[in-house]
Amino acid sequence: MNNIPEQFQIKSLIHQNSYLVDGELKSWSGESSEVYSTISSTETYKSTLLGTIPTLGEKEALEALDAAVNAYDKGQGLWPTMKVKDRIDCMEKFVTQMKTKREEIVKLLMWEIGKTLPDSEKEFDRTVDYIYDTIEEYKQLDRDNAKFEKNDGVYAHIRRGPLGVVLCLGPYNYPLNETFALLIPALIMGNTVIFKPAKYGVLLISPLLEAFQSSFPKGAVNILYGRGRTVATPIMQSGKVDVLALIGNSKSANALQNQHPKSNRLRLVLGLEAKNPAIVLPDADLDLAIDECIAGTTSFNGQRCTALKIVYVHEDIVDEFNKRFSARVDALKFGNPWENGVKLTPLPESDKPQYIQELIDDALEKGAKILNKKGGETTDNYIFPAVLYPVNKEMRVFQEEQFGPVIPVLSFKDINEPLDDMAESNYGQQVSLFGSDIITLAPLIDTLVNLVCRVNLNSSCQRGPDVYPFTGRKDSAVATLSVHDALRSFSIRTFVASKDNTYNNAILKNLLDSKASNFMSTDYIL
Ligand code: G3H
Repeated sequence: MNNIPEQFQIKSLIHQNSYLVDGELKSWSGESSEVYSTISSTETYKSTLLGTIPTLGEKEALEALDAAVNAYDKGQGLWPTMKVKDRIDCMEKFVTQMKTKREEIVKLLMWEIGKTLPDSEKEFDRTVDYIYDTIEEYKQLDRDNAKFEKNDGVYAHIRRGPLGVVLCLGPYNYPLNETFALLIPALIMGNTVIFKPAKYGVLLISPLLEAFQSSFPKGAVNILYGRGRTVATPIMQSGKVDVLALIGNSKSANALQNQHPKSNRLRLVLGLEAKNPAIVLPDADLDLAIDECIAGTTSFNGQRCTALKIVYVHEDIVDEFNKRFSARVDALKFGNPWENGVKLTPLPESDKPQYIQELIDDALEKGAKILNKKGGETTDNYIFPAVLYPVNKEMRVFQEEQFGPVIPVLSFKDINEPLDDMAESNYGQQVSLFGSDIITLAPLIDTLVNLVCRVNLNSSCQRGPDVYPFTGRKDSAVATLSVHDALRSFSIRTFVASKDNTYNNAILKNLLDSKASNFMSTDYIL
């Protein structure tokens, strides 16, 4: 078995032959699709079959939609009207069951998307923490709202209510974490959800299906398999989706959005592309900048929306930076995800090496060179990161979000060069700024915060900690995700108002004393 440790070997295939609709794990005997890993389990390279998933069609998609619409039931459904405390109980039940599946899910993360063992474990643990943090945040939100206000003679009891039916689609690079960062807040706020796992990282949802089924009322969560275009398109065309929650690329987001017949009704929670730059100033601590740029450009092979995808280095230090940076890239260990000390791992998309090669060829043709010895070395499931220099605006690697292992480097003389590029760019998520002179940094920070949504001082870009706002300008995002913000993105302020008079006040008092309403409550959840 190609030296694969016993506990990580694929010993049996996962045949996912059911899907979750209306609280039922419906068995599927129709067409199915094979799920392969680009990791080989034999000496001679061969992709590995991991299992199969249902290829559902429009009929099943619309069944899931009906289930979600019925569970919402025009706002009268069990889930949207449930007491906050009871929704939290459901979520706690789910996360307790989820925690028992860590080993299985971590193993599938490695095989399905090639994420290293420590990063796969981190993705799982971070998701569990995210759920617990969301529960705590929701309790706080509920406590903050467990009161009445009075203005101009009108009492108001203001809370946040659900929006309706949410279609939730996550990306393959964080098939658990990013998907759940949408799904969990959407659900806990009382929305009903239809969720389709990502293209890669799909089987790892299988161990959770029963937990979803047994923790939530029927129809609150519905899980579909199949091609996005086939299942998501009819769901959007129905006009019955209230929120499109998608982390992925803007092409799919635009295509889906455009299918909705009532665009003003559709709310969007989107995390899309980015081309986060690193800007290395002449007075930067070069060791630190190189460490952080290595992590930023190469972790998970650059397949992160927050990855550093373009590196600007001041011309005074560019030669030294390039020399040391290229040597560091070549020293990174490539191997299978469970190997000790491995930093670069097989790419889950079998056509990715070819795409990266095209970017390299285009850059070489337009005047760049590969600075590192191993740059561009290709194997069956990988292409070693090439450090390309000097890159210019005509090159595809400058214009496109590579989302993979290739590192374009540019030098600059005047700081306005990277600033102008950022202003012209379609993206505006984050930037990494390396330097120490506060006279230079201060005005730069003041400008950069207006071009992106997070300025990372002397560190690579990242989403975490997940309590911080994760968003972007321009084509990079719509709405904000963080433990705190996501609860707001998936809900709307809604309230009960009554004029301050004896008649109304007696009714209000009775409503509160009787505890007959789940919305009107001044109880504190501890
Ligand atoms: O793909 C984008 C992810 O949100 C990045 O998260 O910065 O924690 O890797 P990360």
